[in-house]
Amino acid sequence: MTERLTAEGISYAVANRLVIRDVSVTLAQGELLALIGPNGAGKSTLLRLLTGYIPPARGRCLLADKPLAQWSAQTLARYRAVMLQQTQVGFDWPVETVIGMGRMPWTPQPEPSVIHQVMQLTECLSLAGRRYAALSGGEQQRVQLARALAQLWREGSPRGWLFLDEPTSALDLFHQQHLLRLLKSLTRQGHLHVCVVLHDLNLAALWADRILLLHEGRIVSEGTPIDVLQRETLSRWYGADVQVGPHPCAPTPHVFLTP
Ligand SMILES: Nc1ncnc2c1ncn2[C@@H]1O[C@H](COP(=O)(O)OP(=O)(O)OP(=O)(O)O)[C@@H](O)[C@H]1O
Ligand SMILES: [Mg+2]
Repeated sequence: MTERLTAEGISYAVANRLVIRDVSVTLAQGELLALIGPNGAGKSTLLRLLTGYIPPARGRCLLADKPLAQWSAQTLARYRAVMLQQTQVGFDWPVETVIGMGRMPWTPQPEPSVIHQVMQLTECLSLAGRRYAALSGGEQQRVQLARALAQLWREGSPRGWLFLDEPTSALDLFHQQHLLRLLKSLTRQGHLHVCVVLHDLNLAALWADRILLLHEGRIVSEGTPIDVLQRETLSRWYGADVQVGPHPCAPTPHVFLTP
């Protein structure tokens, strides 16, 4: 299959207000793409359009040259997984059961070896046996990442399209670094393709291959971290006072808020 996910001139309106305006984007294989932009810019809405959760009012989204709406729900679920901004689970389930839900597109009986491997990758082994509802916010986020990777698990590794909406918002420093390093190493292997919404521009700077900056539903800047994370660009679209300098030990920009 030609693994390419594209949006062609998509728009989306809520209550007669356009919240996504004529966005075109191609997500490439093995790429880690970061979506950034101020609150309300349309990042979560774009993610929902790209994953097929909502249909565009205009334009179209294609996976392997076929509109998302024409994929069966089960086949689509085998090729793309989504980790949302917040995920509540309606029942008081153990962590392993929540992660095992990711296997539903493949089997009614989640394979213990797959559950174990994704828990290991996502630093969830220490949460084994715990109730999901009783976990801290950051622990729940790690479990949701494990569930999403379980959903894409095929031939010994996660494969396909992984969409994450602010997956680091509740994570401590160690787990932020661990998550981005994990996504980077999985995308480098070429079988996983990631689109991640991030508010922390310095995480995007260090780990994204490409950044899209959204503002009021439009892509206003696009390119490598060096292209996008420029002082004038960030001041203009976020309205924040920032400075951008070199990272002390990586060839990437670092964004500083000014006091
Ligand atoms: N179901 C909805 N009903 C009403 N307004 C909506 C709905 N979904 C999105 N919007 C509006 O669309 C705009 C974009 O919302 P979206 O959630 O995509 O922003 P975002 O970039 O993800 O913001 P944040 O950084 O705060 O998560 C916002 O103004 C939001 O209020
Ligand atoms: Mg959002």
